[in-house]
Amino acid sequence: MTALTLSTAGAATLRADALVVGVAKSGKALVVAPGAEAVDKAFDGRLAAVLETLGASGAEGEATKLPAPAGLKAPVVLAVGLGSAPEDGEPYDTETLRRAAGTASRALFGSKKAAFALPAGTAEEAGAVAEGALLGAYSFDVYKERATGKDAKKPLAEVALLGAKPRDKAHKAAAERALAVAEEINRARDLINTPPNDLTPAAFAALAQTAGKEHGLKVQVLDEKALAKGGYGGILGVGAGSENPPRLVKVAYTHPKAEKSLALVGKGITYDSGGISLKPAGHNETMKCDMSGAAAVFAAVVAAARLGLEVNVTAWLALAENMPSGSATRPGDVLRMYSGKTVEVLNTDAEGRLVLADALTRASEETPDAIVDVATLTGAMMLALGSRTFGIMANDDDFRTALHGIADEVGEQSWPMPLPADLRKGMDSPTADMANMGERMGGGLVAGLFLQEFVGEGITWAHLDIAGPAFHEGAPYGYTPKGGTGSSVRTLVRLAELTAAGEL
Ligand code: BES
Ligand code: MN
Ligand code: ZN
Repeated sequence: MTALTLSTAGAATLRADALVVGVAKSGKALVVAPGAEAVDKAFDGRLAAVLETLGASGAEGEATKLPAPAGLKAPVVLAVGLGSAPEDGEPYDTETLRRAAGTASRALFGSKKAAFALPAGTAEEAGAVAEGALLGAYSFDVYKERATGKDAKKPLAEVALLGAKPRDKAHKAAAERALAVAEEINRARDLINTPPNDLTPAAFAALAQTAGKEHGLKVQVLDEKALAKGGYGGILGVGAGSENPPRLVKVAYTHPKAEKSLALVGKGITYDSGGISLKPAGHNETMKCDMSGAAAVFAAVVAAARLGLEVNVTAWLALAENMPSGSATRPGDVLRMYSGKTVEVLNTDAEGRLVLADALTRASEETPDAIVDVATLTGAMMLALGSRTFGIMANDDDFRTALHGIADEVGEQSWPMPLPADLRKGMDSPTADMANMGERMGGGLVAGLFLQEFVGEGITWAHLDIAGPAFHEGAPYGYTPKGGTGSSVRTLVRLAELTAAGEL
């Protein structure tokens, strides 16, 4: 894990393997961003000119390494692009800083210590730089023999923030928050990236128990026997085809002064083969990511505990493996859900809504002030919004709007989606109360409408379909690595903070 320090030393005096500075475009000229004044001075005020000679443009995502001049205690200067410089006196956008810091950490993979001289004058800026740097310093190499040896290259071991004020309360809090949030996002990424032969529902539940204990959380696990006794037909129906039985895990964080409570429900399909409605080759290679919702809500509740937020947060992990076998649920089977409703399973690949439905009903029994579920639920949401934006549906317009604003504030791309009532009739079943599939068109919204029916009367609820951004298949960029991303964790943590502050 990468360490974070706030340093009072100037850029010229701190010993490090590299010094990170920001460079931006200002009209046709390159400018060095605030925070790197001492570094520019060591270049006799010519850092922007030198970078220009090397072909730097200041574009976002750009990283230019150059040898440091005498007078600096680091051998290398790394300039990362910040795009267009803001108008005079305006601050840099925090997501721009987060991404630039992440780009720097990735460019410095294999180095030990980097000093970040990016804009960090305000607590918000310091927090964003710290978060980006720690998120960019992520790698998942436990399964790589060559990457785990003594001489193997490792992600950045230490991030030193320059320009932040270690004796300022707000700066210290921002740094502590950044460390907790980034470490929990990286925990979610590890869970997502762990192969499905190792991360079974029982293994996920065991990890939740261990980590939960460590952070003072109450963890309760319902195994297949308890699920049968409780009548959790949705979770059991999805898990029926697997040798690895399902689990429902409740992870509760409580604060003695809390006035509000949040329930976070996560889809935790540790592998989605599609079941008897088997996915074709080309559609199942990344389906270990189908527990990203459960990973996100678990990371968020642990982060809430680490930050000591004055709000009660309960995460519900609906864990199952969706496999075909002689014991698997068939298309045509009818399941009796935990709510008592019956569902005709027309397509066993629409399994996420079945496990979530049971968890939503169970979560509703505790009458939280709001429920948010997070799920890699539909390919249709990816068709609608692409692979970097999650969809937000809700039974309350204000709550949906608030979540969209929160996501924007923390630098996560999202978009509000409707729940059109006319799509409900497509899920009518001649045999059961409803079917688990409806019209193909608007498939993401159909899934949302299905879930809505399992939310307790009068409870504010939102559904985040993170099928697009949960797992990144392209080249890494900013602080986003290949594989699990930890999508939605920052939004959930901010939601918990605002709920604690009574601002929602
Ligand atoms: N886990 C998938 C959705 C998914 C697809 C997530 C691609 C991430 C990337 C989900 O269980 C699924 O298979 N959904 C079906 C529903 C359909 C059968 C109604 C889909 O979207 O095709
Ligand atoms: Mn599926
Ligand atoms: Zn799925």
